[in-house]
Amino acid sequence: MNHDIKILHVLPSGTRQYCMHGWVAHVDNICVGHIHMLIEANDRVKFLDAWVHDDWRRKGIFRKLWDTRWKFVQENFSGWKAYAWCKPMSLPLLLEKGFTPGDSSVYVEKEIEEKGPYGPNCFVSC
Ligand SMILES: CC(C)(COP(=O)(O)OP(=O)(O)OC[C@H]1O[C@@H](n2cnc3c(N)ncnc32)[C@H](O)[C@@H]1OP(=O)(O)O)[C@@H](O)C(=O)NCCC(=O)NCCS
Repeated sequence: MNHDIKILHVLPSGTRQYCMHGWVAHVDNICVGHIHMLIEANDRVKFLDAWVHDDWRRKGIFRKLWDTRWKFVQENFSGWKAYAWCKPMSLPLLLEKGFTPGDSSVYVEKEIEEKGPYGPNCFVSC
């Protein structure tokens, strides 16, 4: 790859309520991808929200971001457990890195209806 891809580590704000780290891949100060990590209770870190811009996919950016984050957790969270919910595109890299597959999940959705003036509709028989 000829482009000079740099990675910026975005630190959490410092408040204990919100402990999200981010790693942003950028070329000439334009963001081309990012990944995140949430620090959770019980010595667990959650890897989430991997994204690489369509025009920059399959060039190793996700791998580069992933390896940068992994180096950081090895240096700072040794002994903790890392986990993630993967989509089909991100799963192969995590399996390659030695993560073991657990439960899968199913996406569901529902339109939110406005609540009527008398509360939710309810069949009244008498
Ligand atoms: C998933 C995503 C982040 C990968 O980014 P990328 O920079 O193109 O990935 P890389 O080029 O670094 O590929 C690293 C590895 O990921 C896997 N991978 C990447 N794209 C893949 C695809 N389309 N299908 C299957 N595996 C894929 C491969 O194992 C690949 O290793 P290889 O190149 O040696 O085969 C990107 O496709 C994306 O943003 N997808 C939409 C959002 C998404 O699904 N995010 C995952 C949320 S959990």
